[in-house]
Amino acid sequence: MATTDAAGSHQAESSIMQAVTRSRYGGAEVLELREIERPEPGEGQVLVEVRAASLNALDWHLLTGTPYLVRLVNGLRAPKRAGIGVDVAGIVESVGEGVEGVRPGDAVYGAGSGTCAEYALAKAELLLPLPDGIDFSQAATFNVAAITALQGLRDVGSVKQGQRVLINGAAGGVGTYAVQIAKLMGAHVTAVCSGRNVEMVRSLGADEVIDYTGADVSDLGLRFDVIFDNAGSQRPSKLARMLEPGGIVVVVTGPKRGKVIGPLGHIVRSKLRFAFRSGRAGTVNAVTKRQDLQQIGDWVAAGFIAPAIHRTFSLDQTMDAVELLGSGHAPAKLVINLRD
Ligand SMILES: NC(=O)c1ccc[n+]([C@@H]2O[C@H](COP(=O)([O-])OP(=O)(O)OC[C@H]3O[C@@H](n4cnc5c(N)ncnc54)[C@H](OP(=O)(O)O)[C@@H]3O)[C@@H](O)[C@H]2O)c1
Repeated sequence: MATTDAAGSHQAESSIMQAVTRSRYGGAEVLELREIERPEPGEGQVLVEVRAASLNALDWHLLTGTPYLVRLVNGLRAPKRAGIGVDVAGIVESVGEGVEGVRPGDAVYGAGSGTCAEYALAKAELLLPLPDGIDFSQAATFNVAAITALQGLRDVGSVKQGQRVLINGAAGGVGTYAVQIAKLMGAHVTAVCSGRNVEMVRSLGADEVIDYTGADVSDLGLRFDVIFDNAGSQRPSKLARMLEPGGIVVVVTGPKRGKVIGPLGHIVRSKLRFAFRSGRAGTVNAVTKRQDLQQIGDWVAAGFIAPAIHRTFSLDQTMDAVELLGSGHAPAKLVINLRD
């Protein structure tokens, strides 16, 4: 934990911190809350005293090393990085060489590394000032999930006012943002989720919510200009059948049915199938960009969208949160809150 001295400079009391770490690939059981050395910010880096972090399906992939392609980048036999978490909000503790515009004591949100810890490193350009009226838990959800929804709907789907948009997989981290952003873009939104999440998704502004445990949206004769597929639960041929002429499928995650060759393979395959069958599909490869973090922060600060947070967990409950995430049915966002 940090203190502020009489001269106003922000200092850490010790160089030891608590962090959720792992040394091998696996599920929540490989995670440990340990005391480790606090990292030092290098050139262009910032050390953030973490107040909140949020989890994403991405963290599950990095934790388990699945699909196996993940291991090519993150370590073949064991993960190169011990920490987990990439979404962060907190207070700047110290800055590395060459960092301008971010100062110790600033409240910030954005993208970091190993954020399920008392302190985490982040690139200075991917940290923004916390907007007025927004708390750390809310701001900790503005990175991966919100940005995937924004980039998928805006850059791949090119959603326009009045279009009919289907959000398949509307109840999770990406989906809850996608429903709200599509509404903000002026679309008529049909959302698909399981029965227990119908009311939550309706409260986000969806015009219609379909419970996939009771009906298959592809059997209802509906047509869409944009299908944002965040669940991979429909065969490409069925998605193609639901497209209006000139419509597009935004492939956030590949089909989960059929022969498993990993999501990337699925995405490539489904893209090809769509290209042949309907002529229209695009994949999302979300990348954190400063202007998009700013856009999400501005929209939330203005009250146009709101993070949907299912639950907050303390740092020592991170394993429970990860377990829920790994079920594939975590509703909305899961936030690790260290201190408000
Ligand atoms: N391409 C990219 O750049 C990119 C970026 C971020 C995420 N992703 C991918 O996007 C997906 C979602 O990520 P996330 O962080 O939002 O995950 P998440 O928070 O774990 O959400 C998963 C949601 O999927 C829903 N779901 C499960 N089975 C479903 C089905 N058959 N039909 C409809 N919904 C279903 C669940 O809701 P119910 O409990 O209601 O079923 C759950 O809330 C993941 O596969 C992730 O890998 C891709």
